[in-house]
Amino acid sequence: MPTDLIRRKKVTTQTFRNKKRSNIPITVLTAYDYPTALQIDSAEIDAILVGDSLGMVVLGYENTLPVTMEDMLHHCKAVARGAKYALLIGDMPFMSYHVSAEQAVRNAGRFLQEAGMDTIKLEGGRALAQTIKAIVSAGIPVMGHIGLTPQSVNQFGGFRIQGKTAKAAKEIFLDAIALQEAGCYALVLESIPYKIAQFITKKLDIPTIGIGAGAYCDGQVLVTHDMLGMFDRFTPKFAKQYANLGQLMRDSFSRYKQDVEKSEFPTLEYSYDITNDEWKKFLDLVE
Ligand code: KIV
Repeated sequence: MPTDLIRRKKVTTQTFRNKKRSNIPITVLTAYDYPTALQIDSAEIDAILVGDSLGMVVLGYENTLPVTMEDMLHHCKAVARGAKYALLIGDMPFMSYHVSAEQAVRNAGRFLQEAGMDTIKLEGGRALAQTIKAIVSAGIPVMGHIGLTPQSVNQFGGFRIQGKTAKAAKEIFLDAIALQEAGCYALVLESIPYKIAQFITKKLDIPTIGIGAGAYCDGQVLVTHDMLGMFDRFTPKFAKQYANLGQLMRDSFSRYKQDVEKSEFPTLEYSYDITNDEWKKFLDLVE
């Protein structure tokens, strides 16, 4: 067996449960392509979410609603080729699980069968409980997602913090309990007050993964393009920036343009040569 496989184990939903029990924070990042998945996996991040945020940060849509099953499967396959150890989570796009439980099970199955994902994620509260039960019964682990659920952006009237009133917070809490009962192995809590996230985290046996939900969740997830400074159209308060790759890319593209325009690239160092003999023979042949 290769030595890296002995040292490092594939992360599973059981690892998530163990980490919650042992109070070890769970780390999750999004990825949509092979090279990013490779780097995230070598940084030993626990899980990679192929989020439908793909629609905004990679495909350039205004929101996540236009993302299709085919878009998701295409990008999930690329991520699966790049990551060996992280738990791989495929995000079910808008309208891929809303029509019927049967449609939801079929589409969830495609993430595992065709795209190499280990689990799926879907958005929504207790209205989705029966659908989640059906998917879990098919042997497909489900991560829930409540609070600010971007696929409902039109219902929320924009990307707004949720659960700010006692009544709204209670609804989110009831959703969390219902999703745990429906069989979710973990729950994303997005853009809710940290005290509500902390309360939910304490009450649940399954791990909570926060994004804009404060420090007291069992784990954290960030959109990689936000944390690397590659998406500046919309920067939420919670998105800590660890690098400014956008600036680095712009600088590199400008330097390349200048080099080419001033004939400073490519120099001999970046060119292929031919031997003098072959060069002379070539000239004899063609002149
Ligand atoms: O699509 C996504 O990236 C997500 C995260 C924001 C949790 O759902």
